[in-house]
Amino acid sequence: MVKIVGIAGSPRLNGNTSLLLDEALGGAKEAGASVNKIIVCNREIYPCQGCGDCRKTGECTVDDGMDKIYGLTTQAHGIIVAAPIYFNSLNAQMKALIDRHQCIWVRKVQGEDVTDAETRQARRGLFLSTAGADDPRAFDGALKVIDMFFDVLDIKYYERLLFFRIDQKGAIKNHPSALRNARAAGEHLVLEISRSME
Ligand SMILES: Cc1cc2nc3c(=O)[nH]c(=O)nc-3n(C[C@H](O)[C@H](O)[C@H](O)COP(=O)(O)O)c2cc1C
Repeated sequence: MVKIVGIAGSPRLNGNTSLLLDEALGGAKEAGASVNKIIVCNREIYPCQGCGDCRKTGECTVDDGMDKIYGLTTQAHGIIVAAPIYFNSLNAQMKALIDRHQCIWVRKVQGEDVTDAETRQARRGLFLSTAGADDPRAFDGALKVIDMFFDVLDIKYYERLLFFRIDQKGAIKNHPSALRNARAAGEHLVLEISRSME
C-alpha cells in the first residue's frame, strides 16, 4: 500500500495551507493510500542546535518529537508539505522540522541508504503553499528550501500548488479551484507513485 505523510507547517490550525493539505490527503486516501498527518505545532520540535553530534553518529541527539517523525519522512512513498510563506521563506516551525533532517543528510553523505531501494525509487513529493502578497515571487525562497529538503530525502518532485493573494484565515475557500486542485493533486500523487512501483 502506498504510504503518504502530510506535514502541516502553519501555526494557524485550519488555516489556508492546512485546508489545502486536508484536501490533498483526502484525495490520496480516495486513491487507496494510507495517510499520516503531522501537525508541526502540536509536536515538540526544537530548532537544530548545530552541535555537530550527528556528524559523529548519524543520529540527532536532541530528545524531542522528531524521534517519531524521521521514520515517517524517510519511509513514506509520498510526502506532502503544506506551509505558508513568512518573510519570503517557509514559516519557522516548518523550517525547524526541515533543518532537523541534517542528520539524514549526514547519513547519506556517509554512504548510507536511509530509505530502502524499492521505496526510494517510488518517492514523490507535493508542495502546497499560500502567500498574502500580490506577487508570485513570494514563493521563490521557499521553493529553494523545499528543493533541498526533497533532494536530501531522495524525493523526486511531483507537483507544487502555490496560491498568492491569499491572506485571511480561510481565504483559500474563496479561490475558485484551489481546494479541488489540491484534492486532485493528492490523488495524482498516489497514482504516480503506484505507477512507479509496478
Ligand atoms: C509572520 C508572517 C509573515 C508573513 N510573510 C509573508 C511574506 O513574506 N510574503 C507574503 O506573501 N505573505 C506573507 N505572510 C502572509 C501569509 O503567507 C498568508 O497569510 C498565508 O495565507 C497564511 O497561510 P496559513 O493560513 O496556512 O497560515 C506572512 C504572514 C505572517 C503571519
